[in-house]
Amino acid sequence: MTPNAESLGIGIVSIRRIDDEHPRPTSPSEYDDWGEFAPEARGMPIERWLIEVTHDGEVSAVGDMSAHAVWHGPTPGSRASNIGISLIDDWRGHGIGAVAQRLLAEELHADGVIRVEASTDVENIAEQRALARAGFALDGVLRGAQQRRDGQHDLQVWSHVSAGAPSSIIGLPTTDLDAIALARAYPWPADRAWLRAMMVLTLDGAVAGADGRSGSISSPFDQRVLAEARRLSDAILIGAGTLRAERYKPMKARDDAQVERASLGLAEAPVLAVLSGSLDLPWSDPLFAESARRPIVFTTAGHENADLEAAQAAADVVVLPGVRDVATECVEELHKRGLMRIVCEGGVRLLAGVAAAGLIDEVDLSLSPLLAAGGQVHVGPPVPSPVRYALVQTLQHDGFLFTRYLAEH
Ligand SMILES: NC(=O)c1ccc[n+]([C@@H]2O[C@H](COP(=O)([O-])OP(=O)(O)OC[C@H]3O[C@@H](n4cnc5c(N)ncnc54)[C@H](OP(=O)(O)O)[C@@H]3O)[C@@H](O)[C@H]2O)c1
Repeated sequence: MTPNAESLGIGIVSIRRIDDEHPRPTSPSEYDDWGEFAPEARGMPIERWLIEVTHDGEVSAVGDMSAHAVWHGPTPGSRASNIGISLIDDWRGHGIGAVAQRLLAEELHADGVIRVEASTDVENIAEQRALARAGFALDGVLRGAQQRRDGQHDLQVWSHVSAGAPSSIIGLPTTDLDAIALARAYPWPADRAWLRAMMVLTLDGAVAGADGRSGSISSPFDQRVLAEARRLSDAILIGAGTLRAERYKPMKARDDAQVERASLGLAEAPVLAVLSGSLDLPWSDPLFAESARRPIVFTTAGHENADLEAAQAAADVVVLPGVRDVATECVEELHKRGLMRIVCEGGVRLLAGVAAAGLIDEVDLSLSPLLAAGGQVHVGPPVPSPVRYALVQTLQHDGFLFTRYLAEH
């Protein structure tokens, strides 16, 4: 295999410069609808590469990549290459983007380019994962950097630097964010079901303070992050231990969120879903009677009729079939109800089950600047083969670090 190729399940991915014999394929992207070009940008030199997949001797042109120079100073070592990629629809989702961008970064490094950059929309989760898998690191967000037909866009900037080049800590501190910027920090993918796990942890791993609640290790900004992560979700999934400790308030959406939810075809507010084996829940809490949507309670078989009736008076009770692990059955049931955007807020025992079942697409972990000692709860058996997550965002506020990780699968 040549150095600019790598074997993947679907075949060998390779890249070559575009020429007359290997023209650019048509691979339209929703991120490429530019509108009118600026006259000064028309003559910008752009190099192009073709991405090919070879399988059983058959070569398919599956997409293309571009590179243009970005100058960070007047010296030769200040010339970075900014790369872009477009894949034909049918070839997406196979890991080709990650391999192709890594191959291109290596080729450019071999040509003497120290810094290879890629910029992508903050909403473009597929490309962020591909870049992380290609070995790029997130440098930060360029606010209001790019105009396209539909308006101005923030761009994440990722980089891949030659071995030996100095590299500082990934992710920039963000001292404060306005509501609009925060809204863009926790996007949902448009076209697939997604489970986001949220937790706040102290420096020593506690999930609650001395009062047994997470509020005492949280901060007002952490609460804003949580509210933002929930704002456009379909369902919030928690364990009974969390409901008993935290006593959630009724689930309602603010007026402005309702307008945005309606424009996206979402119900008026997220629905709360609770997993409880015992059905020992605070049924008289306002959460059950006053939420915008009737909460769902998942439970297992074998309850007395009276207990089931008490639960059914307050919530939609779903007795899980017990064929698969409970976490998978809960999530499948939510999907069956059209609830695709799920925020799993713990606690630790529920999250352990959800993690073990491989259901977590995104982990949003807030690190609280406290040592709290007590308050840790057991976390269940270890996952047999840990799943790796790529760090795609860090925000910082008042000593708290807000991380966002995406599963690398
Ligand atoms: N730091 C944070 O961000 C954060 C977030 C959430 C919670 N917390 C804290 O975490 C603590 C609660 O966590 P936790 O781990 O004790 O509770 P949890 O995960 O919220 O809930 C555990 C409960 O879920 C039900 N459950 C879980 N697995 C089950 C299964 N396989 N079959 C049937 N039911 C099952 C059981 O309910 P039954 O007991 O009803 O049978 C179990 O007791 C609290 O201190 C809370 O404040 C912290």
